[in-house]
Amino acid sequence: MAVFLPLPGNEALAASLASLTGGTLGRVETRRFPDGESYLRLHAELSGQEALLVCTLDRPDAKLLPLLFAAATARRLGSPRVRLVAPYLAYMRQDAIFHPGEALASADFAALISARFDGIVTVDPHLHRVHSLSSLYACPATLVHAAPALARWIRENVRDPLVVGPDAESEQWAAGIAEAAGAPYLVFGKERLGDRQVQLSVPDLYGRQEREPVLVDDIVSSGTTLAAAADALREAGMRSPRCVVVHDLRRPQARQKLDGLTAGLVSTNTVPGATSRITVDALIAGALRSLGEEGSGPGF
Ligand code: R5P
Repeated sequence: MAVFLPLPGNEALAASLASLTGGTLGRVETRRFPDGESYLRLHAELSGQEALLVCTLDRPDAKLLPLLFAAATARRLGSPRVRLVAPYLAYMRQDAIFHPGEALASADFAALISARFDGIVTVDPHLHRVHSLSSLYACPATLVHAAPALARWIRENVRDPLVVGPDAESEQWAAGIAEAAGAPYLVFGKERLGDRQVQLSVPDLYGRQEREPVLVDDIVSSGTTLAAAADALREAGMRSPRCVVVHDLRRPQARQKLDGLTAGLVSTNTVPGATSRITVDALIAGALRSLGEEGSGPGF
């Protein structure tokens, strides 16, 4: 029987996954010592049981050390297999060295995780210049695609949608979502000039103006990409777009960036927050069950 262990903030997802897969739920106790160091204790019977640590990895730096302590502790308590369920996987966008001396954070982060876990399960990792997780992660990686959940939301909420991806990378999501939603799609070209500056090139939108644009992307962070895309749609005579993203990483001040430019934003619950109204729990649970059937998964 697999034991789900939620790091702080992941309790709801872990409880849902345990219920959907027939696993059990343990508890992770954490606190800070007066000197700022981390205290961690696992409350679970793990001898002979698979441990599934649940920890989404937005704002990853403060989460990483407790997560690594939790993995080591699970092994010490006798768990024969320790895996990570990280609905959002961090550092995937730092996948190239642009200037000498820069960290290759995607690979360095992957090395830290791979050394401590027997496998990871994640939702739509940002695969851009690196095309597969297995070329970064030495441990087995299972990808869950949120497209069916996003497409369902679009089908239920938007009449005559036109799915729009704001850049070439987003085509991998836009195409799948559009197909599942039964809608046409197009993608813009994007050149990133800085953390908060992008330049878009827009294809001909002639004949599409009657449709309701739905901007889809894997990540919204500063909001720069979606704001520029919404602006480009307005200039092309389209109405304000809905935005549907997998991972909403915005800090509060970045939320204002889209005010007045869009008809609202929804995201999945890979990063819980005000916009996370699309649940991917069943998709993750399905992937965990499939792993079980292959014999490489938890004993559900
Ligand atoms: C990058 O290519 C991603 O797919 C997103 O478009 C990007 O990360 C969004 O970042 P921001 O909101 O800061 O423009």
